[in-house]
Amino acid sequence: VRVGRGALDLLVDDLAARPPGRLLAVVSDSRVGPIHAEPLFRRLRRRGLPALLLTFPAGERHKTRATKSRLEDELLAVGAGRDTAIVAVGGGVTGDLAGFLAATWHRGIPVVQVPTSLLAMVDAALGGKTAVNLPGGKNLVGAFHQPWGLYADPAVLGTLPAREWLGGLSEVVKTAAIADERLFEWLEAFASALRGREPAAVDRAVTACLRIKASIVRLDPLEQGRRAILNFGHTVAHALETVTRYRIPHGRAVALGMAVEVRLAMESTGFPAEHALRLHQLLETLQGPLRWPAGADAAEVARTARRDKKTREGRARYALPVRLGKMAPGSDVTVTLSDSRLMRAIRSLSSGQVPASRV
Ligand SMILES: NC(=O)c1ccc[n+]([C@@H]2O[C@H](COP(=O)([O-])OP(=O)(O)OC[C@H]3O[C@@H](n4cnc5c(N)ncnc54)[C@H](O)[C@@H]3O)[C@@H](O)[C@H]2O)c1
Repeated sequence: VRVGRGALDLLVDDLAARPPGRLLAVVSDSRVGPIHAEPLFRRLRRRGLPALLLTFPAGERHKTRATKSRLEDELLAVGAGRDTAIVAVGGGVTGDLAGFLAATWHRGIPVVQVPTSLLAMVDAALGGKTAVNLPGGKNLVGAFHQPWGLYADPAVLGTLPAREWLGGLSEVVKTAAIADERLFEWLEAFASALRGREPAAVDRAVTACLRIKASIVRLDPLEQGRRAILNFGHTVAHALETVTRYRIPHGRAVALGMAVEVRLAMESTGFPAEHALRLHQLLETLQGPLRWPAGADAAEVARTARRDKKTREGRARYALPVRLGKMAPGSDVTVTLSDSRLMRAIRSLSSGQVPASRV
């Protein structure tokens, strides 16, 4: 893992010094392609490395089997073999899709992750989870495929649209909320610097999150237990994304998901009300008001949450912290809860109640 300004220069040097494949297939989406993947592709060519650039239409809607098949056809058309390596340049959609492409192409070829969104940099690109969505749910087909390398250069975040920036901050907050109370306090103090993308604050947040995620993933790479703590907020977020047909960005869904799930935590893990209030306030400082989307029916979200990969015996499972920066010890870190508990928590958020007022 290389993180810091200049990481992309190191990437070019590393690929030239010990290429992971004879052919480097740079995969990117239609938005990141022209701004970041093409310049990288040209640099690789100038260094004499055989490279090609494949792009697909940007957006979560395109993280599908159909897009993956199209990219496979394109690889086949250029004669890409087992000695190919994929270089995924983009946000979490690109990383997941290109990572899955690498996981299955000729039964698995190396993938280099080059995250360009904040969300991908602090979360998605590290850990080896790759997937595509099905119409009935997110990430339902995929594979674990650890990257050959990860190159996170915060300089590329300068071109990220504001909406995506704010969404990525949700994963930063999640990381602190599950693993590091001091980082959470730092986020509270530096919220406006992060909103304003001040380089020193951004670099510190990215490095801290990568370090935490690496320490969690290293102990449980296949998510057989404790790694599930990373899913805080995500059971509700994924259901919300499915129900709203991905109209709201992932990071925004995660913020709303945490706001709902922290209410479940107050009831089931004894999460302190004052911590729930701090989480709610930090999310609102970074994201603006946490309004539940009008069209997202609570019962439908609950039904969809039961279809999530984390379902056990027909009940939705949640990874809930016990306090800020702390999850329950051990490897069984999730709880199963009924639809009615979830619907109550959603109604509490959508009626505008702040967590502490429930206690
Ligand atoms: N594999 C994992 O462990 C993991 C973890 C968290 C999330 N995810 C996945 O990540 C996805 C969400 O990631 P995302 O929010 O990065 O979505 P994304 O990849 O769609 O990126 C968001 C938008 O920002 C654009 N973009 C990205 N970087 C840019 C840049 N530097 N400049 C300008 N535009 C840029 C993209 O083109 C896209 O339009 C979801 O599919 C989610 O399931 C995966």
